Amino acid sequence: MIIRIIFAILKILKMKGMDKASVFDCSVIDLGQISSDEGNITVLENDKFPFDVKRIFYLYDIKGGESRGAHAHIACHQFLIAASGSFAVHLDDGIYKREVFINRPNLGLHIPPGIWASEMNFSSGAICLVMASLLYSEDDYIRSYKDFRNYRHVTFVDYSKRFLEKSWFWLNDVEIKFLTNTPDFDRELQYKWFNSLANNPNYRVQGVCYEGREIGVLGLKNIDSIQKKGEYFGYIGERDYWSKGIGGRMLIHAQSLAKIEFGLETLYLNVIQGNDRAIKAYQKFGFSKVGQTGDLIRMEKRI
Ligand SMILES: CC(C)(COP(=O)(O)OP(=O)(O)OC[C@H]1O[C@@H](n2cnc3c(N)ncnc32)[C@H](O)[C@@H]1OP(=O)(O)O)[C@@H](O)C(=O)NCCC(=O)NCCS
Repeated sequence: MIIRIIFAILKILKMKGMDKASVFDCSVIDLGQISSDEGNITVLENDKFPFDVKRIFYLYDIKGGESRGAHAHIACHQFLIAASGSFAVHLDDGIYKREVFINRPNLGLHIPPGIWASEMNFSSGAICLVMASLLYSEDDYIRSYKDFRNYRHVTFVDYSKRFLEKSWFWLNDVEIKFLTNTPDFDRELQYKWFNSLANNPNYRVQGVCYEGREIGVLGLKNIDSIQKKGEYFGYIGERDYWSKGIGGRMLIHAQSLAKIEFGLETLYLNVIQGNDRAIKAYQKFGFSKVGQTGDLIRMEKRI
């Protein structure tokens, strides 16, 4: 019983995106120092870090009062040290904000992934030493605050009967039905499709939530593990959430599902001619047109 309650709480937290790190998970760690009459030494060893260090870089020659950073990482942990001088770090988890001032070479700030961080008010001559848990990959960076908000607030959950019920209304909305090229269907057909999901290895569907509210659906179908190809589909059923960059977040998620869970190398999709919002979102994400049959445009992306 207790385990069930714990799982239910974890599920709610995951739906709301609250399973991600918060600003209160960012901690200042004292690395210690060995002092002598000649001066101090601080020793950095992996066991003093909350992660294994794969990369080190440092910022210097920064003009006094300048700011740097203003981005978040998806998977990379970082550890910041003011090797010389001082600076402030502004931390933001999408809900809470916090500012930490670092001004001693023996103190370091651990920033877990998923936190929007900016380094500000550098003292003149300051050196910011950064230890990172991953090698450089642009894919790990979230550089716009709009994308960051979506990263924090959009979550992907199991496709449950609640989504099935909502989909009934979403896909019977005349405009959405047209935009998604959905054929006529009835309740019986919908339930038949739902019940077939558990036994269909070529189909993977998930619900999309914003701060825990069900807003849409995404998935992969026609998954072909020999040709390493799969078809993406997705829609936001709640119109208030259109054109807020959530489509891009859905594509990032579908791409990692395709790569990690199914080992796919190509994603394709079909979009109805005239669905300019969708086409723009797909192009922005790197899909390009490879063909057209009637009104249906086929787009592809190597992932
Ligand atoms: C298609 C869909 C998933 C895209 O997600 P989204 O979050 O709305 O899209 P994004 O905000 O990531 O990107 C849309 C882009 O199109 C632009 N756009 C919005 N309306 C537009 C229009 N009528 N014409 C052209 N571009 C438009 C937006 O400005 C944005 O570009 P920008 O980031 O450069 O400003 C979503 O709109 C949706 O589900 N729509 C209804 C159903 C549907 O069309 N599904 C797709 C079936 S293939």
